[in-house]
Amino acid sequence: MDAMHLQDLNTPAALVDTARMQRNIARMQQRMGSLGVAFRPHVKTTKCVAIAQAQITAGARGITVSTLKEAEQFFAAGIKDILYAVGMSPPKLKQAAALIAQGCALKIIADSAASAAAIVAYARQHGVPFEVWIEIDTDGHRSGVQPQGDELITIGQLLHQGGPATLGGVMTHAGSSYDLNTPEALQAMAEQERSLCVLAAERLRAAGLRCPVVSVGSTPTALSAQQLQGVTEVRAGVYVFFDLVMANVGVCSLEDVALSVLTTVIGHQSDKGWAIVDAGWMAMSRDRGTQKQTRDYGYGQLCDANGQRIEGYTLTGANQEHGIVSRSGEADQNIAQHFPVGTQLRVLPNHACATGAQFPEYHAVNGQEVGATWPRFYGW
Ligand SMILES: Cc1ncc(COP(=O)(O)O)c(C=O)c1O
Repeated sequence: MDAMHLQDLNTPAALVDTARMQRNIARMQQRMGSLGVAFRPHVKTTKCVAIAQAQITAGARGITVSTLKEAEQFFAAGIKDILYAVGMSPPKLKQAAALIAQGCALKIIADSAASAAAIVAYARQHGVPFEVWIEIDTDGHRSGVQPQGDELITIGQLLHQGGPATLGGVMTHAGSSYDLNTPEALQAMAEQERSLCVLAAERLRAAGLRCPVVSVGSTPTALSAQQLQGVTEVRAGVYVFFDLVMANVGVCSLEDVALSVLTTVIGHQSDKGWAIVDAGWMAMSRDRGTQKQTRDYGYGQLCDANGQRIEGYTLTGANQEHGIVSRSGEADQNIAQHFPVGTQLRVLPNHACATGAQFPEYHAVNGQEVGATWPRFYGW
């Protein structure tokens, strides 16, 4: 069979540059190896079995998921060691218990005494050996208990009563690292994430509670940490693709971004300097994550079909299925000659997790040659 090329694809389409992706995977795995910790990638970025398998082949141990649907799908594909890293709500315990009954080494998290008590009660009633990690708030950006607070110990004691549920460790995610953009600030945030999560583990241990796992991570902190003493594993997700937000944070270059949206020029408004393409917000997502960063890329950075960046041109507007390409600064009155109708272009996304989620599948590409089609899944 002849090889497929980009011209054979219906647009918009989600492309994964496999060489860049493999480089990103290797970079993170090597870093974790040199810092002496295990690596548990967050697979919510891709929701794709083929990519998770590439991460495991490179040395990842276990995965992190953000929905029980992901846990079910990855478990069905043979991955057993799974952390469900969103606070457990009682109605979901039955779904989690079903996975454990089938042999999944699922870990769940709790960040309140109420949630821990509900888990313990369900575990006793149904004989389910839930392994629970306590979520720690190390940067005030989202959920978690305070590492210095009393509730941490209360939750630990609830989980340590000898029931089938057990305390497995502590975990944290310093998501506020996304707001930073200097190496010094990122290193300081990585150290804050590490030291406060280790402190929580030490306080539990001092209270006589077992706490084997100390799990930390986000892409910016994982790539900035100078040492990870006391940490047993790191989690990161978006690093596998990177995106424009991460480029603005300063942990990758645009040449590392492995996900792009292939689009076709469908018309022009030459007097305004616009080319109209068939990738609107339905393809790119509504995520405008670079809007409040140092460089605003609109709905994405324009590249040619080979993936070479076209400096100064971005997707400045997006309707549902129409995108507007224009040049920053002076309008390009010759845009119809530069990008004739039918031209294929690629757009790098602001936020890879959000853009990937618009598509049912990825096309693995090497230059303009299209290799495998990798399905990704949806839903809860
Ligand atoms: C709990 C948790 N761990 C890890 C990650 C991975 O972070 P990143 O995508 O920055 O690598 C996330 C991302 O939201 C998360 O919520």
